Amino acid sequence: MSGRLAGKVAVITGAASGMGRASALLFAKEGAKVVAADLANAGKTTDEIQKGGGQSFAVKVDVTRAQEVKAMVDSTVERYGRLDVLFCCAGRVSFGNVVTVSEEEWDNVMDTNLKSMFLCAKYAIPKMVERGVGSLINMSSVSGLVAGVDEAAYDASKAGIILLTKATALDFGPKGVRVNCICPSSTDTPYLRNYAKLTPDPKKFLDETANQNAALKRLIQPEEVAQMALYLASDESSAVTGTAMVIDAGYTAL
Ligand SMILES: NC(=O)c1ccc[n+]([C@@H]2O[C@H](COP(=O)([O-])OP(=O)(O)OC[C@H]3O[C@@H](n4cnc5c(N)ncnc54)[C@H](O)[C@@H]3O)[C@@H](O)[C@H]2O)c1
Repeated sequence: MSGRLAGKVAVITGAASGMGRASALLFAKEGAKVVAADLANAGKTTDEIQKGGGQSFAVKVDVTRAQEVKAMVDSTVERYGRLDVLFCCAGRVSFGNVVTVSEEEWDNVMDTNLKSMFLCAKYAIPKMVERGVGSLINMSSVSGLVAGVDEAAYDASKAGIILLTKATALDFGPKGVRVNCICPSSTDTPYLRNYAKLTPDPKKFLDETANQNAALKRLIQPEEVAQMALYLASDESSAVTGTAMVIDAGYTAL
Protein backbone atom coordinates (compact mmCIF):
# COMPACT_ATOMS: atom_id res chain seq x y z
CA MET A 1 0.00 0.00 0.00
CA SER A 2 1.30 3.47 -0.83
CA GLY A 3 0.93 6.62 1.25
CA ARG A 4 2.75 8.75 3.80
CA LEU A 5 2.75 5.90 6.35
CA ALA A 6 3.33 3.03 3.92
CA GLY A 7 4.91 0.05 5.66
CA LYS A 8 4.40 1.43 9.15
CA VAL A 9 2.48 -0.13 12.04
CA ALA A 10 0.57 2.33 14.22
CA VAL A 11 -1.29 1.83 17.49
CA ILE A 12 -3.88 4.44 18.41
CA THR A 13 -5.57 4.56 21.80
CA GLY A 14 -9.00 6.17 22.09
CA ALA A 15 -9.56 4.95 18.52
CA ALA A 16 -13.30 4.35 18.89
CA SER A 17 -14.25 8.02 18.93
CA GLY A 18 -13.36 11.60 18.10
CA MET A 19 -9.77 12.45 17.27
CA GLY A 20 -8.47 8.92 17.86
CA ARG A 21 -10.99 7.50 15.39
CA ALA A 22 -10.26 10.21 12.79
CA SER A 23 -6.53 9.52 13.14
CA ALA A 24 -7.00 5.76 12.82
CA LEU A 25 -8.94 6.22 9.58
CA LEU A 26 -6.40 8.70 8.17
CA PHE A 27 -3.35 6.63 9.16
CA ALA A 28 -4.88 3.59 7.44
CA LYS A 29 -5.67 5.64 4.32
CA GLU A 30 -2.00 6.66 4.28
CA GLY A 31 -0.88 3.05 4.27
CA ALA A 32 -0.32 2.16 7.92
CA LYS A 33 -1.48 -1.07 9.50
CA VAL A 34 -3.56 0.26 12.36
CA VAL A 35 -4.22 -1.24 15.78
CA ALA A 36 -7.35 0.47 17.07
CA ALA A 37 -7.42 0.40 20.88
CA ASP A 38 -10.14 1.58 23.24
CA LEU A 39 -12.24 0.60 26.26
CA ALA A 40 -15.00 -0.51 23.85
CA ASN A 41 -16.16 -0.22 20.23
CA ALA A 42 -12.71 -0.07 18.63
CA GLY A 43 -13.98 -2.83 16.32
CA LYS A 44 -16.24 -0.31 14.57
CA THR A 45 -13.20 1.72 13.55
CA THR A 46 -11.42 -1.45 12.45
CA ASP A 47 -14.45 -2.44 10.33
CA GLU A 48 -14.41 0.96 8.61
CA ILE A 49 -10.70 0.62 7.86
CA GLN A 50 -11.13 -2.89 6.47
CA LYS A 51 -14.08 -1.84 4.31
CA GLY A 52 -11.78 0.82 2.80
CA GLY A 53 -9.19 -1.85 1.97
CA GLY A 54 -6.87 -1.16 4.91
CA GLN A 55 -5.39 -3.55 7.47
CA SER A 56 -6.43 -3.22 11.10
CA PHE A 57 -7.37 -5.09 14.23
CA ALA A 58 -9.02 -3.94 17.43
CA VAL A 59 -7.75 -4.23 20.99
CA LYS A 60 -9.86 -3.75 24.09
CA VAL A 61 -7.70 -1.84 26.54
CA ASP A 62 -8.03 0.24 29.65
CA VAL A 63 -4.98 2.50 29.32
CA THR A 64 -4.79 2.94 33.09
CA ARG A 65 -3.90 -0.75 33.56
CA ALA A 66 -0.30 -1.75 33.02
CA GLN A 67 -0.96 -5.37 32.05
CA GLU A 68 -3.56 -4.34 29.44
CA VAL A 69 -1.24 -1.74 27.91
CA LYS A 70 1.58 -4.31 27.79
CA ALA A 71 -0.77 -6.82 26.12
CA MET A 72 -1.78 -4.16 23.54
CA VAL A 73 1.86 -3.60 22.60
CA ASP A 74 2.73 -7.32 22.63
CA SER A 75 -0.25 -8.28 20.44
CA THR A 76 0.73 -5.59 17.93
CA VAL A 77 4.25 -6.92 17.58
CA GLU A 78 3.05 -10.54 17.48
CA ARG A 79 0.55 -9.81 14.70
CA TYR A 80 2.36 -7.18 12.60
CA GLY A 81 6.00 -7.80 13.55
CA ARG A 82 6.86 -4.24 14.60
CA LEU A 83 5.64 -1.02 16.17
CA ASP A 84 6.53 2.27 14.46
CA VAL A 85 3.97 4.72 15.83
CA LEU A 86 1.97 4.95 19.04
CA PHE A 87 -0.58 7.75 19.26
CA CYS A 88 -1.84 7.96 22.87
CA CYS A 89 -5.11 9.78 22.29
CA ALA A 90 -7.37 8.27 24.97
CA GLY A 91 -8.33 10.72 27.66
CA ARG A 92 -11.18 12.33 29.52
CA VAL A 93 -12.18 15.73 30.77
CA SER A 94 -12.95 16.69 34.35
CA PHE A 95 -14.45 19.72 36.00
CA GLY A 96 -13.91 21.21 39.45
CA ASN A 97 -11.40 23.26 41.39
CA VAL A 98 -9.02 21.88 44.01
CA VAL A 99 -11.64 22.31 46.73
CA THR A 100 -14.59 20.77 44.89
CA VAL A 101 -12.85 17.96 43.04
CA SER A 102 -12.85 14.67 44.96
CA GLU A 103 -9.66 12.74 45.60
CA GLU A 104 -11.12 9.83 43.65
CA GLU A 105 -11.83 12.06 40.63
CA TRP A 106 -8.33 13.59 40.82
CA ASP A 107 -6.75 10.12 40.82
CA ASN A 108 -8.94 8.91 37.97
CA VAL A 109 -8.13 11.88 35.72
CA MET A 110 -4.42 11.62 36.47
CA ASP A 111 -4.50 7.87 35.74
CA THR A 112 -6.49 8.19 32.53
CA ASN A 113 -4.68 11.19 31.08
CA LEU A 114 -1.15 11.10 32.50
CA LYS A 115 -0.27 7.70 33.96
CA SER A 116 -1.60 6.13 30.76
CA MET A 117 1.02 8.02 28.73
CA PHE A 118 3.74 6.73 31.07
CA LEU A 119 2.47 3.16 30.69
CA CYS A 120 2.20 3.39 26.90
CA ALA A 121 5.74 4.79 26.66
CA LYS A 122 7.07 2.22 29.12
CA TYR A 123 5.93 -0.75 27.05
CA ALA A 124 6.13 0.68 23.51
CA ILE A 125 9.53 2.38 23.57
CA PRO A 126 11.58 -0.82 24.09
CA LYS A 127 9.98 -2.27 20.93
CA MET A 128 10.92 0.92 19.03
CA VAL A 129 14.45 1.00 20.44
CA GLU A 130 15.00 -2.61 19.29
CA ARG A 131 14.68 -1.40 15.69
CA GLY A 132 16.15 2.07 16.31
CA VAL A 133 13.10 3.94 15.05
CA GLY A 134 9.75 5.11 16.35
CA SER A 135 7.36 8.00 16.84
CA LEU A 136 5.39 8.39 20.04
CA ILE A 137 2.62 11.01 20.01
CA ASN A 138 0.83 12.05 23.18
CA MET A 139 -2.47 13.92 23.28
CA SER A 140 -2.21 16.98 25.50
CA SER A 141 -4.37 20.11 25.10
CA VAL A 142 -4.14 23.90 25.14
CA SER A 143 -5.31 23.26 28.71
CA GLY A 144 -1.78 22.04 29.36
CA LEU A 145 -0.45 25.46 28.36
CA VAL A 146 -3.01 27.90 29.75
CA ALA A 147 -5.31 27.28 32.68
CA GLY A 148 -9.10 27.34 32.52
CA VAL A 149 -11.62 28.02 35.26
CA ASP A 150 -12.89 24.95 37.13
CA GLU A 151 -10.73 22.34 35.45
CA ALA A 152 -7.79 22.00 37.86
CA ALA A 153 -7.25 18.24 37.57
CA TYR A 154 -7.66 18.22 33.78
CA ASP A 155 -5.24 21.14 33.31
CA ALA A 156 -2.65 19.59 35.64
CA SER A 157 -2.87 16.25 33.82
CA LYS A 158 -2.46 17.87 30.39
CA ALA A 159 0.45 20.06 31.56
CA GLY A 160 2.14 16.95 32.96
CA ILE A 161 1.91 15.30 29.55
CA ILE A 162 3.92 18.13 27.97
CA LEU A 163 6.94 17.71 30.27
CA LEU A 164 6.66 13.92 30.19
CA THR A 165 6.85 14.23 26.40
CA LYS A 166 9.92 16.48 26.49
CA ALA A 167 11.74 14.35 29.09
CA THR A 168 11.05 11.17 27.12
CA ALA A 169 12.20 12.83 23.89
CA LEU A 170 15.55 13.68 25.54
CA ASP A 171 15.95 10.19 26.96
CA PHE A 172 15.20 8.27 23.77
CA GLY A 173 16.16 10.62 20.92
CA PRO A 174 19.67 9.13 20.82
CA LYS A 175 18.05 5.69 20.32
CA GLY A 176 15.97 6.81 17.33
CA VAL A 177 12.63 7.42 19.05
CA ARG A 178 10.89 10.78 18.56
CA VAL A 179 8.31 11.93 21.13
CA ASN A 180 5.91 14.82 20.61
CA CYS A 181 2.55 15.95 21.89
CA ILE A 182 -0.43 17.72 20.36
CA CYS A 183 -2.30 20.57 22.05
CA PRO A 184 -5.71 21.17 20.49
CA SER A 185 -8.33 23.61 21.71
CA SER A 186 -12.07 22.84 21.48
CA THR A 187 -12.63 20.19 18.86
CA ASP A 188 -15.95 18.97 17.53
CA THR A 189 -15.99 15.41 18.87
CA PRO A 190 -18.74 13.24 20.39
CA TYR A 191 -17.39 14.20 23.79
CA LEU A 192 -17.98 17.91 23.16
CA ARG A 193 -21.44 17.32 21.62
CA ASN A 194 -22.54 15.09 24.52
CA TYR A 195 -21.32 17.64 27.03
CA ALA A 196 -23.21 20.43 25.22
CA LYS A 197 -26.43 18.42 25.60
CA LEU A 198 -26.06 18.64 29.39
CA THR A 199 -26.00 22.45 29.34
CA PRO A 200 -29.23 24.52 29.46
CA ASP A 201 -28.71 25.82 25.90
CA PRO A 202 -26.51 23.45 23.84
CA LYS A 203 -26.37 25.71 20.78
CA LYS A 204 -25.30 28.71 22.88
CA PHE A 205 -22.66 26.58 24.59
CA LEU A 206 -21.23 25.39 21.26
CA ASP A 207 -21.27 28.94 19.81
CA GLU A 208 -19.45 30.34 22.86
CA THR A 209 -16.95 27.50 22.78
CA ALA A 210 -16.30 28.10 19.09
CA ASN A 211 -15.71 31.82 19.74
CA GLN A 212 -13.01 30.96 22.29
CA ASN A 213 -11.00 29.74 19.30
CA ALA A 214 -10.34 33.44 18.94
CA ALA A 215 -8.94 33.85 15.43
CA LEU A 216 -11.04 31.46 13.37
CA LYS A 217 -14.07 31.51 15.71
CA ARG A 218 -15.04 27.94 14.95
CA LEU A 219 -14.54 24.51 16.42
CA ILE A 220 -11.64 22.44 15.15
CA GLN A 221 -12.58 19.27 13.28
CA PRO A 222 -11.14 15.92 14.44
CA GLU A 223 -9.81 15.35 10.91
CA GLU A 224 -7.71 18.53 11.23
CA VAL A 225 -6.07 17.21 14.38
CA ALA A 226 -5.54 13.87 12.65
CA GLN A 227 -3.51 15.69 9.97
CA MET A 228 -1.13 16.99 12.66
CA ALA A 229 -0.81 13.48 14.11
CA LEU A 230 -0.13 12.16 10.59
CA TYR A 231 2.73 14.63 10.16
CA LEU A 232 4.26 13.59 13.50
CA ALA A 233 3.81 9.90 12.67
CA SER A 234 5.42 10.22 9.24
CA ASP A 235 9.08 10.52 8.29
CA GLU A 236 8.32 14.09 7.14
CA SER A 237 8.78 15.14 10.79
CA SER A 238 12.13 13.32 11.12
CA ALA A 239 13.79 16.28 12.93
CA VAL A 240 10.80 17.08 15.12
CA THR A 241 10.94 15.82 18.70
CA GLY A 242 10.23 17.14 22.20
CA THR A 243 7.62 19.57 20.89
CA ALA A 244 4.14 20.51 22.03
CA MET A 245 2.41 21.32 18.74
CA VAL A 246 -0.54 23.69 19.11
CA ILE A 247 -3.64 23.42 16.91
CA ASP A 248 -6.04 25.94 18.36
CA ALA A 249 -7.63 28.19 15.69
CA GLY A 250 -6.11 31.13 17.58
CA TYR A 251 -7.22 30.21 21.12
CA THR A 252 -3.82 31.04 22.65
CA ALA A 253 -3.18 34.01 20.34
CA LEU A 254 -5.55 36.22 22.33
N1 LIG B 1 -12.49 17.52 22.20
C1 LIG B 1 -11.75 18.52 22.63
O1 LIG B 1 -12.16 19.69 22.58
C2 LIG B 1 -10.34 18.27 23.11
C3 LIG B 1 -9.43 19.34 23.17
C4 LIG B 1 -8.11 19.11 23.59
C5 LIG B 1 -7.70 17.83 23.92
N2 LIG B 1 -8.61 16.80 23.87
C6 LIG B 1 -8.10 15.47 24.20
O2 LIG B 1 -8.18 14.65 23.03
C7 LIG B 1 -8.34 13.28 23.40
C8 LIG B 1 -9.48 12.68 22.63
O3 LIG B 1 -10.65 13.43 22.96
P1 LIG B 1 -11.99 13.42 22.07
O4 LIG B 1 -12.59 14.76 22.20
O5 LIG B 1 -11.70 12.81 20.74
O6 LIG B 1 -12.87 12.49 23.00
P2 LIG B 1 -13.83 11.25 22.74
O7 LIG B 1 -14.57 11.10 24.02
O8 LIG B 1 -14.59 11.42 21.47
O9 LIG B 1 -12.77 10.05 22.58
C9 LIG B 1 -11.99 9.63 23.66
C10 LIG B 1 -11.83 8.12 23.59
O10 LIG B 1 -10.93 7.73 24.64
C11 LIG B 1 -11.42 6.52 25.17
N3 LIG B 1 -10.95 6.31 26.55
C12 LIG B 1 -11.24 7.05 27.65
N4 LIG B 1 -10.70 6.50 28.75
C13 LIG B 1 -10.04 5.37 28.33
C14 LIG B 1 -9.30 4.36 28.99
N5 LIG B 1 -9.11 4.38 30.33
N6 LIG B 1 -8.76 3.37 28.24
C15 LIG B 1 -8.95 3.33 26.91
N7 LIG B 1 -9.65 4.25 26.22
C16 LIG B 1 -10.20 5.26 26.93
C17 LIG B 1 -12.95 6.66 25.14
O11 LIG B 1 -13.59 5.39 25.23
C18 LIG B 1 -13.16 7.37 23.81
O12 LIG B 1 -13.40 6.46 22.75
C19 LIG B 1 -8.48 13.27 24.92
O13 LIG B 1 -7.21 12.97 25.48
C20 LIG B 1 -8.89 14.70 25.25
O14 LIG B 1 -8.51 15.09 26.55
C21 LIG B 1 -9.90 17.00 23.49
